[in-house]
Amino acid sequence: MNYRVPRTRKEIFETLIRGLQRLEYRGYDSAGVAIDGNNNEVKERHIQLVKKRGNVKALDEELYKQDSMDLKVEFETHFGIAHTRWATHGVPNAVNSHPQRSDKGNEFVVIHNGIITNYKDLRKFLESKGYEFESETDTETIAKLIKYVFDNRETEDITFSTLVERVIQQLEGAFARGSPLLIGVRSKYKLSTEQIPVLYRTRNIENVKNICKTRMKRLDSSTCLHAVGDKAVEFFFASDASAIIEHTNRVVFLEDDDIAAVADGKLSIHRVKRSASDDPSRAIQTLQMELQQIMKGKCNFSAFMQKEIFEQPESVFNTMRGRVNFETNTVLLGGLKDHLKEIRRCRRLIVIGCGTSYHAAVATRQVLEELTELPVMVELASDFLDRNTPVFRDDVCFFISQSGETADTLLALRYCKDRRALTVGVTNTVGSSISRETDCGVHINAGPEIGVASTKAYTSQFISLVMFGLMMSEDRISLQNRRREIIHGLRSLPELIKEVLSLDEKIHDLALELYTQRSLLVMGRGYNYATCLEGALKIKEITYMHSEGILAGELKHGPLALIDKQMPVIMVIMKDPCFAKCQNALQQVTARQGRPIILCSKDDTESSKFAYKTIELPHTVDCLQGILSVIPLQLLSFHLAVLRGYDVDFPRNLAKSVTVE
Ligand code: G6P
Repeated sequence: MNYRVPRTRKEIFETLIRGLQRLEYRGYDSAGVAIDGNNNEVKERHIQLVKKRGNVKALDEELYKQDSMDLKVEFETHFGIAHTRWATHGVPNAVNSHPQRSDKGNEFVVIHNGIITNYKDLRKFLESKGYEFESETDTETIAKLIKYVFDNRETEDITFSTLVERVIQQLEGAFARGSPLLIGVRSKYKLSTEQIPVLYRTRNIENVKNICKTRMKRLDSSTCLHAVGDKAVEFFFASDASAIIEHTNRVVFLEDDDIAAVADGKLSIHRVKRSASDDPSRAIQTLQMELQQIMKGKCNFSAFMQKEIFEQPESVFNTMRGRVNFETNTVLLGGLKDHLKEIRRCRRLIVIGCGTSYHAAVATRQVLEELTELPVMVELASDFLDRNTPVFRDDVCFFISQSGETADTLLALRYCKDRRALTVGVTNTVGSSISRETDCGVHINAGPEIGVASTKAYTSQFISLVMFGLMMSEDRISLQNRRREIIHGLRSLPELIKEVLSLDEKIHDLALELYTQRSLLVMGRGYNYATCLEGALKIKEITYMHSEGILAGELKHGPLALIDKQMPVIMVIMKDPCFAKCQNALQQVTARQGRPIILCSKDDTESSKFAYKTIELPHTVDCLQGILSVIPLQLLSFHLAVLRGYDVDFPRNLAKSVTVE
């Protein structure tokens, strides 16, 4: 946002595009910009809006193709907003990308990160009032709602801030926890004294602050700030320092429920919910960081994988957001609700995936069997196809895939569709092949995952499948206590994950002891068997050490031969129905001079007596414990890989998404 510093339209676009490029690390499926400017020559002004599917480069190229756009025209005052989108509602295409607009004349344009959970009701209301929607997004509702409130204003001189404040009060859900919202308005309305206002509301950054207490301090990608330009009349608003640091290092961090508006070259901040103790003044802070350092949003993280591990308190929260009602103990997965009757009548559930996604299926099989009271088959996609597995039209087949593009999983999906089974996608990518080709599905909402070794997608897939089980069992009287226990467990997960992440230092020390080893065994059973498979996969993928996830029940049928003084073995022993059996395995290991490193519950004095080392974890309900027990192994694999000198995010020979058979 610029005030009385002449800039050409080209310069404005370039500034926005560079900012977007700095944010590309978050992943994207489309991008868009909108600008407006003021000079004496241009009489009929309107906001220029350009959107494009694909990356920021594609958008940049598109800008130069627009014949109608005079790039040399100079504006004295102007504003511009830009956005890269990672789809949560609606397929990735130009229409669904941001900015979203209030009408074909682009009178109000909006960009927004987050989810408006009541958007369907708002949309229905606005449609009944004659407002026509063009996209499938929740964000468009905001733009249309602004127009509605503006069209129905009581007084002519409504201020822009008042207008937006009224709109914000109607929005619910993710947004209520405060995702950034940036709104531009066409100035011909002369809303009160504001010339070209820009508005921004911050997200709730409580989670971020808490994570910062852990060893890795960071400036989270979703931290909101605006920068005070060195020329004093330029204002930049961004959801990440990397987008603006080249212009200024003087920033103001907005707080929850702040509304910031620029009018007549001045920034003002006021509060949506005013209370007596509220002080809307915000100090200008100086960022002590270089562009290099904050690029890719990694800040104090040395790799995307590490950043993604530390994001898990937020990503699991986002997976549950708007779906689990902790007051009524109910779960609603919007993408499945119309098929629930059919699923309840099915012959069996088949859950199919590859790699980490397959492990999420293994991790939740038992709780799905318990809550759905259906037989659950868990399948590796490639093997499922190799066996020409019989599939029937009354089967329900789940396809778990972070990318939604894995070839083996996609082929298995087509195979099941040919046999007329109901197909359900569980993906992290709206508009991906799997999400498009399945009959219905769940978006896990973990946010883009960039590190090749999957971490936060696993915990979100895990939770998505548990939520499905909970939704299926809603009317089973005999399961109500169990459901309550699990839902209660889900509620405290983000906090418990933070507690596990605070063990990072200790896990780093363990890695220092282990990183020169050739092999690492990970053993457990029951609910935590999947943790062993997933932990061993992480270790293999990025440290190139040999690692095996062993079912403790199988120990005596072979793996025991590997145990001796030298072989490092990690045992996952939790206070759950398998505890006594795990103690047996522990005895067998120590009897062969094995020196087990034990992941156990905080209150477990029994196991620790026999341990060479222990990592003590907080306790949660048995079927969710795997979410907590996998995190130390994610951290361990990360530290091992760093100590061994490998590129954590791009392990040799592996790809994030394998689109060939
Ligand atoms: C690749 C990745 C793994 C991932 C697997 C399945 O092999 O390297 O990390 O778990 O694909 O990917 P998907 O996107 O289907 O979950």
